[in-house]
Amino acid sequence: MPFSTETLGALSAAYPHMPRQLTHEIASHPLLELDALAALARRLRPESIEFNAATDLPLGIAYEETPYTGLDVHETIAQIDSCGSWVLLKTIDQDPAYAQLMRDVLSAIEPVVEPRTGEMMRLEGFIFISSPQAVTPLHFDPEYNIMFQALGKKTMTVFPAADPDMIGDPFFEQYFNGGPRNLPWQPEWEERGQPITVTPGEAIYVPILSPHWVKVHDEVSVSLSLTWRSEWSFHHADACRFNSRLRQIGLRPSSPRIYPADNRLKSYSQRALARAERMLKRG
Ligand SMILES: [Fe+2]
Repeated sequence: MPFSTETLGALSAAYPHMPRQLTHEIASHPLLELDALAALARRLRPESIEFNAATDLPLGIAYEETPYTGLDVHETIAQIDSCGSWVLLKTIDQDPAYAQLMRDVLSAIEPVVEPRTGEMMRLEGFIFISSPQAVTPLHFDPEYNIMFQALGKKTMTVFPAADPDMIGDPFFEQYFNGGPRNLPWQPEWEERGQPITVTPGEAIYVPILSPHWVKVHDEVSVSLSLTWRSEWSFHHADACRFNSRLRQIGLRPSSPRIYPADNRLKSYSQRALARAERMLKRG
């Protein structure tokens, strides 16, 4: 079992709204060793890999402004202890061994998740390989996430889900229409964050729609993020897209509702309009 009974209880007390530090049993899994990850990077499709410089970055940097080091991804992983970089391996479940690990771990939390937010949908796995002192700037992700620390130590500072000052409706509307996920940073927001430090064997549940930033401590870090969506989260995303349409015609739509209230009326309207547009395009 990847989790103890106590950990499942802690997740149950927090899910889906509150961040929570958890413990896990997969830190020494052979698939999470650096050699195995270097081999995985050679098997993944190139579009499944992101990497860039990650030290001495401002917290509020836009993704496209993040500098490169001149190394390729394989050199970056080989020199990760000294090259000041961050590597992200995405959709690792395209590899059968990692897909099995992802399913084994996420099936263990189904009894906690599914009674609250329904079927776990669109499961995905990501691995972060980071140099000492690497920073992942402030951003949000559209998924529920558990980040498992396998090597090194990192601190994630998690902010309240959908904090209207930090991450207002127009940001969500742009994001769900293909816009960026990084957020601008204001120093006065610092006190709203909850810093959670994890070492191998510890994990963090990151609530959906919660802004967060991450700082690695003094050693190389390896983390596995396993994520899922819910029907509620897809309705929320489509309600944001519908609100964007209303804003474009000069209206000021009310904010999408927060779980457990749902957003079906707006989301079904968005889906009907998008379907009609696709049919018109096909002619
Ligand atoms: Fe994230």
